[in-house]
Amino acid sequence: MPANPAVRDYLLSRRSVGPAFLRDPGPNADELKTILTIATRVPDHGKLTPWRLIVIEGDDRVRAGEALAAIAARKNPGLDQQSLEIERGRFLPMPLTIGVISAPKPSDKAPELEQLLSAGNVAFNLVHAAHAMGYAASWITRWFSFDAEAAAMLGAQPGERFVGFVHIGAPTMVPEDRPRPDLDAVVSRWSDAAGQA
Ligand SMILES: Cc1cc2nc3c(=O)[nH]c(=O)nc-3n(C[C@H](O)[C@H](O)[C@H](O)COP(=O)(O)O)c2cc1C
Repeated sequence: MPANPAVRDYLLSRRSVGPAFLRDPGPNADELKTILTIATRVPDHGKLTPWRLIVIEGDDRVRAGEALAAIAARKNPGLDQQSLEIERGRFLPMPLTIGVISAPKPSDKAPELEQLLSAGNVAFNLVHAAHAMGYAASWITRWFSFDAEAAAMLGAQPGERFVGFVHIGAPTMVPEDRPRPDLDAVVSRWSDAAGQA
């Protein structure tokens, strides 16, 4: 495969854009299909497809937010109006959110950890796919990824869990880079790091 400087430069500069800075227009139906096709092209030991995706766009954004606020209010009776508004707006203003569910399958070959990691790859591939189609994105979990009732309302079946929600839209800002890891702190040679005691 030839070197691909465009992909290299994208990977060297990619930044997430937070949900508050993602607006219309979002992907059209064809673009969404391409995004989903890219997202599901991930390493998957045993070809188990141990994940599912939930698309939230259009009016569903409002309905899902209202359902989320109702759960939050029931669980936290003291929640003030401002906090409830935040819950109502969890899938706004971005035009598109895709929830990624880890749906592990019984397997002798692929332990559950591998299946969970495959789901994580789907989430990050969604971010890359969004960029490839000219949009920006961010991968967010929040409380509703971990709360069983909220996760069920958002589409998780028993035995499944969200690895997060990828928000996608047109960016309204260009984020500055953030500090990146010092490679010397996280990379070592095996001969220096292990097995040589
Ligand atoms: C599994 C996972 C969950 C995340 N959840 C949140 C979140 O709830 N809120 C948040 O601000 N960032 C969250 N992030 C971080 C953002 O996705 C993003 O990595 C971060 O804003 C750094 O930006 P960068 O991608 O440009 O390096 C999460 C990242 C991962 C991998």
